[in-house]
Amino acid sequence: ARIVVLVSGSGTNLQALLDACAEPSYGARVVAVGADRDGIEGLARADRAGVPTFVSQLSDYTSREHWDRALADKVAAFEPDLVVSAGFMKLVSADFLERFLTLNTHPALCPAFPGMHGPRDALEHGVKVTGATLFVVDAGVDTGPIVAQVPVEVAEDDDVASLHERIKVAERAMLVDTVGRIAREGISVEGRRVRIGGPDR
Ligand code: GRF
Repeated sequence: ARIVVLVSGSGTNLQALLDACAEPSYGARVVAVGADRDGIEGLARADRAGVPTFVSQLSDYTSREHWDRALADKVAAFEPDLVVSAGFMKLVSADFLERFLTLNTHPALCPAFPGMHGPRDALEHGVKVTGATLFVVDAGVDTGPIVAQVPVEVAEDDDVASLHERIKVAERAMLVDTVGRIAREGISVEGRRVRIGGPDR
């Protein structure tokens, strides 16, 4: 299966996928990495792995619609079976989501604590267990059909950074396991089994 990964930051989730894809039996390949800004570690990780990259920066376009269309066209050029948004901090349009089956990873147990501050909001709420969620992106913010979740205990002395770091360890393992399984077996979306790519692609 051909995967395009979208990133906005450090790209440790991307790195976990790149490492997994180095094993041919994994069944998936990161064919390109896209970002909404230049100069980030996520793009450097792709460069080091020899994976092509592209950048679509919102401020380079006259409207959000133009940006979104340009991003989608750049993604399409790599003919992905699956798009994985891994720490990509922009929302994409319904048109984008119609063109590509898109998964996103979120550092909380959806539907709890959606948005930009999952770990902070979980900590402020005082929950004892939070975690990470992989879901199919839909028109809402962190609302799409859930594909996988992993729980993470909140420690007495956690701050936002320590909690998020521990969530990310579990998040990366969940992402790698689930994307590999989807690449090999397909995925059920709205009750329909969707087969994607396959190792031959
Ligand atoms: C992840 O926790 C992701 O869920 C969140 O931001 C973090 C990105 O980490 N939205 P990285 O860029 O993969 O290291």
